[in-house]
Amino acid sequence: MDPFNVSRRNMLLGTGASLAALGARGIAQTVAPPVAPAGGRALPPPPTPDQIRRLQWWHEAKYGLFIHYGLYSMRARQEWAMEKEAIPIPEYEKYAKQFNPKPGFAREWVKLAKAGGMRYMVMTAKHHEGFCNFDTKLTDYNSVQQGPKRDLVREYVDAARAGGMRVGIYYSLMDWHHPDGAICANDEAARRRFVDYTHGLIRELMTNYGKIDILWYDGGMPLNGAGWEAERMNKMVLDLQPDIVMNNRNLAVGDFSTPEQRILASGNGRAWESCMTLNESWGYDAEDDEWKSPRTIVRNLISCGRDVGNYLLNVGPKGDGTMPEEAVRIITEVGRWLETNGDSIFKSDKCQPWRPSYATFTRTGNTLYMHVHYWPGGDVSLSGLQTKVLSAYMMKGKQAVKFTQDDYRVHITGLPMKAPDTPVTTIAIECESVPTQSLDPELRLAKPRGKVGIEI
Ligand code: GLC
Repeated sequence: MDPFNVSRRNMLLGTGASLAALGARGIAQTVAPPVAPAGGRALPPPPTPDQIRRLQWWHEAKYGLFIHYGLYSMRARQEWAMEKEAIPIPEYEKYAKQFNPKPGFAREWVKLAKAGGMRYMVMTAKHHEGFCNFDTKLTDYNSVQQGPKRDLVREYVDAARAGGMRVGIYYSLMDWHHPDGAICANDEAARRRFVDYTHGLIRELMTNYGKIDILWYDGGMPLNGAGWEAERMNKMVLDLQPDIVMNNRNLAVGDFSTPEQRILASGNGRAWESCMTLNESWGYDAEDDEWKSPRTIVRNLISCGRDVGNYLLNVGPKGDGTMPEEAVRIITEVGRWLETNGDSIFKSDKCQPWRPSYATFTRTGNTLYMHVHYWPGGDVSLSGLQTKVLSAYMMKGKQAVKFTQDDYRVHITGLPMKAPDTPVTTIAIECESVPTQSLDPELRLAKPRGKVGIEI
């Protein structure tokens, strides 16, 4: 095997990315952190002190807007169209001439991210199609020399910063346009040229736009980490941007893992971020109407929060940069929910309780947040809590609620029949110490049983 080449399958395994389909409702469930199997893949290395320092804001930010925007947005059949439809380069290049984002498109994105309660953004500077949405000296296949005659990355960076958003840049190493993008796998001279080109573009992005908070690599094809000279790449990035955080998709270890279309906590204190589409497409697809509901997005945020991970939610704007109306509606509704309930997500520590089935949980210190997604009406019950409850209140309206507690359940009563909040109602349960729930079946078995038969 070529030491610099890697199969797509191994690349995906190596990055932890998954093509696993979502369940019918698109709700991702967390599973326990991986335990290193004997002789199997090792746990990720624990974060270094410098990673802990650089990642601090990122952990607190928790929720970001991912934006796939490029020439494919005009074709409106997802971002893989060029490859999957085998479009010849000259035919595809005509989009570069026609590309013309409307003025102020990036300010609109920032407005949406803010309304949605998000705290950072990640925009595609170059996707697999190879077109650079930024000014570069290394190719004329870029938005300053072609159709728009504007530096779209600069417009985005300026708008995001002006709006108080942390700024992330997505960069695809894989390139379907560059002449060496494929042959670099088997031709050392081509690899040298292409790796120099790749490092050069990244250097420009890390030099010309002020402080960049996130570098989101993708598409580590067709080389492996050694082939990309990925550790040297990261060192260059850190020399230019000492506070940046980077993912692992250039096939170096990086700062955080990127489970894709699923929620999967990393072990060993490794930072992780679930990236997910709002419908089923990363790049705009005019016909994709499989939108997740606001409730599903809130539940996914809760699932990430309870395992101390981030949630990066993707939208593909239309060719002129307009966000699809459905995306605006859904993200804004989640944002309204976060105005009331944000503390339960943004300040969450690792959380253990998980019953009953109509609710999920997050925790901050001794406070347990019970997120009721299917409101049962009148009362809610929490089984097996092993911690004494001191008080409880509704996040919406902040009014105290009545409860009783015995060995088997916390019973919250006197609640309205109709869910007080939408799409999820959160009850803050303040406990004497860190709340834990017994998952031991013995507790259920010990619960007093009824009698059978008729007493005379
Ligand atoms: C998938 C898609 C790619 C997209 C990425 C985002 O790998 O194939 O186009 O950019 O997800 O994580």
